[in-house]
Amino acid sequence: MSTLTGKRILLVIAGGIAAYKALDLIRRLRERGASVHAVMTQAAEQFVTPLSVASLSGEKVHTALFSLTDEAEMGHIELSRDADLIVIAPATANILAKIANGIADDLASTLLLATDKKILAAPAMNLRMWLHPATQRNLEWLRANNVAFSGPDNGEMACGEYGPGRMSEPLAIVSAIESIFAQGETTLPLPPGVGVRPSRPPGILAGRRVIVTSGPTHEPIDPVRYIANRSSGKQGTAIAEAAARAGAEVVVISGPVAIPAAAGATTIHVETAREMLEAVSRALPADIFISAAAVADWRVDAAAGDKLKKSGSGAPSLHLVENPDILATISQHPTLRPKLVVGFAAETTGLIEHARQKLARKKCDFIVANDVGAGTGVMGGAQNTVHIVETGSVDSWPKLDKDAVAARLVGLCAQKLAENAQ
Ligand code: C5P
Repeated sequence: MSTLTGKRILLVIAGGIAAYKALDLIRRLRERGASVHAVMTQAAEQFVTPLSVASLSGEKVHTALFSLTDEAEMGHIELSRDADLIVIAPATANILAKIANGIADDLASTLLLATDKKILAAPAMNLRMWLHPATQRNLEWLRANNVAFSGPDNGEMACGEYGPGRMSEPLAIVSAIESIFAQGETTLPLPPGVGVRPSRPPGILAGRRVIVTSGPTHEPIDPVRYIANRSSGKQGTAIAEAAARAGAEVVVISGPVAIPAAAGATTIHVETAREMLEAVSRALPADIFISAAAVADWRVDAAAGDKLKKSGSGAPSLHLVENPDILATISQHPTLRPKLVVGFAAETTGLIEHARQKLARKKCDFIVANDVGAGTGVMGGAQNTVHIVETGSVDSWPKLDKDAVAARLVGLCAQKLAENAQ
């Protein structure tokens, strides 16, 4: 097993020609069992695309400060606290100057200032920038303040000059990372007298990972039209928030909705059922899967690339094909079936009967059935009347706020997990 197995690296990619080497670095780190979350500065995006970084890291790439102010996303504090080590590669003269001078004007520099982790920097810059007294002064300060360095190497620069300034090769950076871990603790202590408030008592889902699907899916007909079920995402969001309050690590896979993302959870936004299934599969393993999304059962076989136009010859006919059933797929996952899989059934007639059929067909542990017929006000409303349908029993709950349904459902999930463990 590599010394990097299970280590979480936060990689800051700053803007320099050496940014392409960061891609190889990601690959090398992952080969050794580390996970890599990447943050790119705006300038870095001129050299490599967030898409290639995301594909190699297998994680969402964070690019802008303000996309992170949404509570649902990981804030810059959490982003850096969640890592074991921060690596800046390439580290430009600019980003080093920002750290040395306490400047926080974008996501990368903000998290570097907010972090409680050691930092390893792999500088890459023009020779004269490296030798400049301002850079050298910054380096001296950084070395004295818990920033380690890998490189730069001597060599020919992209600009034609020769000397120090080339970024270390990825394998040399990997060795530098390994030696930092070999030295021990990578979290920096706070001065005496300040610190993190004592944590709250662990919740009933502490240590559990929960995946919730929420909202509708949109299945394109053409670039401007789609097929969807009515769903506000309120119940799914309420469940995710309740699970997070109960101490779980929560991932929400949400279709397009108009409400704020769930507080305390990580939200992954998707459009279609197929994207939702892929995102859920990638979020596995989990202890609990709650399928609250109103997934469109069908999609148009071949969505048009251009907007369909009215023609004199009548309406176009759409050929529909069935979408994958996410709940049934996860329930019957050959290796990663969560311990508890919960489905929903929204029906306008024969509620309990249909829910029972779904339970049997989809092989989940129980179904939360709700009547969404005309006049119930459930769709988009604040309240819900649900029935917990299990093989051989139905428990009908009173009409409750969606938040209260969520809290009770989380309680039930915790109880079922505890029972299963016995
Ligand atoms: O079959 P029906 O759509 O009524 O089943 C509802 C349940 O199945 C919900 O939990 C919903 O999230 C889930 N579902 C799914 N994938 C589909 C259709 C429904 O996960 N394609």
